[in-house]
Amino acid sequence: MDIEVLRRAPLFATLGDDVFAALTDELTELDLPRGSSIFREGDQGDQLYFIISGKIKLGRTAQDGRENLLAILGPGELFGEMALFDPSPRTATATAVSETRLAGLNNENLRTLLETRPEVSAQLLQALARRLRRTNESLADLVFSDVPGRVAKALLDLADRFGRPATDGILVAHELTQEELAQLVGASRETVNKALAEFVQRGWLRLEARAVVILDLPRLRQRSR
Ligand code: CMP
Repeated sequence: MDIEVLRRAPLFATLGDDVFAALTDELTELDLPRGSSIFREGDQGDQLYFIISGKIKLGRTAQDGRENLLAILGPGELFGEMALFDPSPRTATATAVSETRLAGLNNENLRTLLETRPEVSAQLLQALARRLRRTNESLADLVFSDVPGRVAKALLDLADRFGRPATDGILVAHELTQEELAQLVGASRETVNKALAEFVQRGWLRLEARAVVILDLPRLRQRSR
């Protein structure tokens, strides 16, 4: 079963087999084609989702129509819990950036699981703390780092989670357009294009369609600081 992929994710790795089985018994799998949204900002929600395969972007739209990406999530990560833990409308739109398989857990089953299996609560709290840490870091980067530094950092983060060894470096098939990459780092497409072009010119990267190959990891890491 595809859900077995979740077993290796940090969120589930420390759960006992019986606890993992109790959790997966309650999950419902669903497939999302690229570009389709599972929910939109402002919707009511009664499920949270785990990503089995593919990638999800979480985006918010401002009054003037500009978009900002909060995060790109991949296999083993969860989203959609805020509307359950703090009942209120969805705070972002969740859209598949590649073909994506999700496992949904509804509110009622989540509550029962949390009451009967404290290990699941501990893992969820850890995942939320990790996310808050990451969000705080992005906030500090918005204030203290320039756009090339933020682009370098975003590419390294994507490489950590989605990178695969290639003959000449690390292939990061992030599946994002340059517009989406710009929304992720909170800058204009033009500025992000310029930063990418500079990295290419220095020999740190090679650009491919919705992907990059990182050729000089140490230099990119240095630029991200
Ligand atoms: P919810 O508000 O139900 O729907 C949107 C989801 O996006 C939200 O739950 C969280 O799971 C997720 N989300 C919101 N903010 C962030 C963030 N800063 N980083 C990662 N995920 C987030």
